[in-house]
This record gives sequence, structure tokens and C-alpha cells, in this order.
Amino acid sequence: MSPYPPPIVPMSSPDLTDAERQAVLNVLNTPHLSMGGQIEAFEQTFCNYTGWRHAIGVNSGTAGLHLCVRAAGIQAGDWVITTPFSFVASANALLFENAVPVFVDVEERSGNINPALVAEAARDLMQGGKAAQRWLPRRGLHTHPNGQLKAILAVDVFGQPADYDLLRVIADQYGLRLIEDSCEALGAEYKGRKAGTLGDYGVFAFYPNKQITTGEGGMIVTDDDSAGQLMRALRNQGRAPGDTWLQHTYLGYNYRLDEMSAALGIAQMNRLEELLGKRQRVADWYHQRLVQIAGVEPPALEETTTRPSWFVYVIRLARGIDRAAVAQRLAERGIPVRPYFLPIHLQPYMVERFGYQPGDYPVTEDLGERGLALPFSGVMDEAQVERVCDTLRQVL
Ligand SMILES: Cc1ncc(COP(=O)(O)O)c(C=O)c1O
Repeated sequence: MSPYPPPIVPMSSPDLTDAERQAVLNVLNTPHLSMGGQIEAFEQTFCNYTGWRHAIGVNSGTAGLHLCVRAAGIQAGDWVITTPFSFVASANALLFENAVPVFVDVEERSGNINPALVAEAARDLMQGGKAAQRWLPRRGLHTHPNGQLKAILAVDVFGQPADYDLLRVIADQYGLRLIEDSCEALGAEYKGRKAGTLGDYGVFAFYPNKQITTGEGGMIVTDDDSAGQLMRALRNQGRAPGDTWLQHTYLGYNYRLDEMSAALGIAQMNRLEELLGKRQRVADWYHQRLVQIAGVEPPALEETTTRPSWFVYVIRLARGIDRAAVAQRLAERGIPVRPYFLPIHLQPYMVERFGYQPGDYPVTEDLGERGLALPFSGVMDEAQVERVCDTLRQVL
């Protein structure tokens, strides 16, 4: 039992209408609950939206990232440059293949991977030996002492794309694959280009707090034919085109998205602009109020973000403010909040496996200590935003 009163506003909330309810019901009135017309149509909406040839529906963003790792040919012991300031799934997808996430720190404003550090790390890792050591974890490499740099996995944190023009130059220079974890950024744009289409493969996720939801679900997009075909097979227990139900060309998974979820996704995609617009409106209401509260930094956008897509609304408290105490007092007043993100390298299993220590990635840790996600969804009204901001002001 929570010691706090019931929240006056939920931490997040899906935005559903009768169109979504009817779409799911329609599926339930057919015998086709998996691998039918809905998943194909849902995938087609993403081909249309991104302009890319392949969209592969999967049952989570995590599953989508895992398939990208497989498609990139990343194997046990390979090194992949990625960010410690993310939801754990981006690094976990590498661990599923026993690859080594090589973390580099992030940029303070966006919280996205720092391209200058990526360039340095890539140069040193390609050189190997002593130069590479500086970037590698303290332990956890004993079974694979001579790794090989294979890819960059960047994350579009909180709905703002990383700096892909710079990342692309580095990837091309060293022959690396570029994976875009766009799970938080459906609808965002980088220099006018859509998030999800900024690397070789992009992944979106549809958990109920996301811009669109399918309950659970995800979507991979790519313009690379062979990767797209491979990921389609791997999602479906490794069945290649032409395989029968009991033939499996590859070691695959059951990462299929069911028809009810896909139908829900189509109805949500039909409302994408409306959903993004409502989230933008709530973010604007927050911004107007939060700039006036001392000790609070509202989220800031990079110049390259020509359109943000609000996933969560994370403020930063000034250094010296006790975030845990603020969070507790807000919860006591019915306002749920969350620290965002707890750095990946300091999660217990990461510390145990790789020997990371506090201080290893200072910008990530600073953001991790000061970030606080406020209640956020497209269905919040202005009075609720006002109440959250008022309470925050009082508590501070
Ligand atoms: C950056 C990032 N990557 C991956 C995921 C994983 O998505 P899912 O929860 O659908 O597996 C999320 C979900 O929150 C995320 O925020």
C-alpha cells in the first residue's frame, strides 16, 4: 500500500477514443488474432510515415532493439558505443548478444550522446590496445579481450533526436552501423528529418506512456532490404520467406505483435498529429509556469531539434536541492513524480558485471541526480498543470 494519498493526476495516461475501442473489438469479431491484416496495415502506416521500405512490427521496443543488434551483425565480445543516460533496454539489447556496451557521456542540454566523445572513442577503439582501454569497462571483458568496434547505438532521449549528422560521419569513417533508439521520439524531427530514419535502423515503442500506444509493442523501420528481411524472419521464430510453419532458417524469437495491438496502433497513428499537438500544448503550459519558479530548469531544446515530440516532461532541479525530499513532499500532496533516468552504468547488475563506479560519467550522473519527471500526458488539462506547478512552487 502506498503511504501517499491517491494522485490528483496520473503520472501518464493513454489518449484513447471510441475509434481505438472499436478497432480492437472488430478484430475480436474475426478469427485472426495474430499475423493477419492488421499488422500488415500497421506496418504500412510506418512505411508511409517514414518513407522507408521496411517496417517490422514487434511486441516491444526492447525486442525491436534486439533485432537491430542482430541485423547489425553484432556478436559476443563486439564493442558498441552507446549512452549511459537512457532507459536500460538500449544497453540491454547489446548484452542479450554478449556484446560490450562502451559508454560515452552525454551533452548537458539534451542528455543525448556527445558526438565529440563518440568520435574520440571510435578513433581509440579502432586503434585497439592501450588507446582502447580508456573507454572500456574495468572488468567483464575477460572472455573477449580483443573486441571489435561494430556500431553506434544512439538514443533520442525524452523525444529529442541525437546529433545524427555528426554520428553519421563517424559511422561512415569507421564502417560502423548506426542504430537509432527512437523509442521515445515518434514524431520528433532533426533538421526537418523524422526521428527513426536518422540511422541505419530505427525503433519506436508503444508502451501506454508513449506518444501512441498499442498496450505493449514496437516498430522497427529501415531502408536496408537485407536487414529488413532478416529482422522480419527473426521476429517470427526465424522463418525465412518460403519456410513452412515448422521450418526455421535462423535462430529466431517470438517477437510478433498481435492483431488487437496492431489495430489499436493503426487507430492511434490515424490520430498522430492530434496526439502530438495535445502533448505539445501540455508542454507549453508547463513551460510558461516553470520558467517562473526559482530552482527549476524546464527542458531545453537543441537547435537541431526542428520538432520535439514530448514523451515525458523532465525538469532539472538546481544543484543543492534535495530531490528525494521534493519528490516525497509532492507525493504527499498527490503529485506523482519520478527520477529520470537513473544512469545505466550504476544499475546493480551493470556494476557487478563491468565494475562501473560513481564518477565514471559525470554529466550523466549529474542529470540523473537532478532530473524529475512531472505528470505528463496529452489528456492533462491546464488546471492540472497549474496544480502541479503550484504545488512544486510551494514545496520548493
Ligand atoms: C529509450 C528507450 N529504449 C527502449 C525502450 C523499450 O521499450 P519497451 O518498453 O517497449 O520494450 C524504452 C521504453 O520506455 C525507451 O524509453
